[in-house]
Amino acid sequence: MSNYSLLQKQFLANTYINRGITLISGKGVYLYDESGNKYLDLMSNYGVNILGHSHPVLTKSLEKQLEKLVVLHSGFGSDIRAKAAQQLIRKVGKKLTRVYFSNSGAEAIEAAIKFAVLATGKKHFIACKNSFHGKTLGALSATGEEKYRNKFKPLLWQFSHIPFNDISTLGKSITSDTAAFIVEPIQGEGGVYIPDETYLQKVRQVCSQKKVLLILDEIQTGCGRTGMFLASESSNITYDVVCLGKGIAGGMPIGITLISENIAEKITRGANTSTFGGNPLSCSGILTTLQLIDNDLLDHVKKMGKYFIKKLHGLHSNLITDIRGKGLMIGMEVKGKRDEILKLLQKEYILAIPAGENVVRFLPPLIIEKKHIDEAVSKLTKVLKLLSYV
Ligand SMILES: Cc1ncc(COP(=O)(O)O)c(C=O)c1O
Repeated sequence: MSNYSLLQKQFLANTYINRGITLISGKGVYLYDESGNKYLDLMSNYGVNILGHSHPVLTKSLEKQLEKLVVLHSGFGSDIRAKAAQQLIRKVGKKLTRVYFSNSGAEAIEAAIKFAVLATGKKHFIACKNSFHGKTLGALSATGEEKYRNKFKPLLWQFSHIPFNDISTLGKSITSDTAAFIVEPIQGEGGVYIPDETYLQKVRQVCSQKKVLLILDEIQTGCGRTGMFLASESSNITYDVVCLGKGIAGGMPIGITLISENIAEKITRGANTSTFGGNPLSCSGILTTLQLIDNDLLDHVKKMGKYFIKKLHGLHSNLITDIRGKGLMIGMEVKGKRDEILKLLQKEYILAIPAGENVVRFLPPLIIEKKHIDEAVSKLTKVLKLLSYV
């Protein structure tokens, strides 16, 4: 373990795993450690660096804003914040007319929960088992993974957790006290689970019939990750609230809660605010990122995702039990040994991340090319051979 990794181990609160390497810089799809070793980045910081590292256009626009104005409280007008909000509404549109800016995915969810309470006057929420919506206490109340929740119970209000991809239980779980149903279009952290094609449409029908709000958590799936700007686009439904985060501000810390006008009308001044929320630096990241995620990039994501999944299917290892994904959100489920695979891949200079209990997750930068995927799969073959599974 390098000195800095040891130093970090000594001085950081012990809430993160320690991968044992210290990464100093990045360029495109590669990250470099303190000795100059080059790692192929197949995790993009849990889905943040969608445009790769040190993207020249993004870096320039952030530098320009850095020289002008970094932070400005949202009580004061900001040219760049106003434009970012307008562009987000143009991009996501439909029923959504207003934007609330914060600094992380969990905060975007916190705001969504509070806004749903203000809009409905109710405090019962339904979320899914195995879901992930963040770890602050409100978001954790929605998160459906007991390993994160156990030590902090009782959590907020009444949150019921139902199986993902199960419409009949959703219908039965809604009561006259229910404010909203909160759901990821694809469960990411839980293990890359993709629901039936018509799931979100049916969810929309049930929520509309029973008059409960539909909150979509597109924090991991959004921003082009699945080959569409939002993963839910293929369902062609309307939503009451959409949460975004991760890479939408070009790597700057960000949380975004997009809401419909019905909800916006009920939000009272001071109900939720954030000192750093909507800071001009993050907003300049949003504007440039929105410009750079064009149709060509989305087509590229679809092609590369299909190619990656095809190559993984070609591995024929009896250790692999399933391969699933959409665009460049890919999970390889294995029988045990998941953490060994991740460690050995890292030794081969390939960085991937875990999901669920037994899934190797790949969330590469969206600019990844075939040659990088070939490189990754050849190293993966070597790792599986080392474990005697090919
Ligand atoms: C779907 C989803 N929602 C919420 C979050 C929480 O985001 P953050 O870690 O920025 O608080 C994550 C993070 O992985 C996520 O994947």
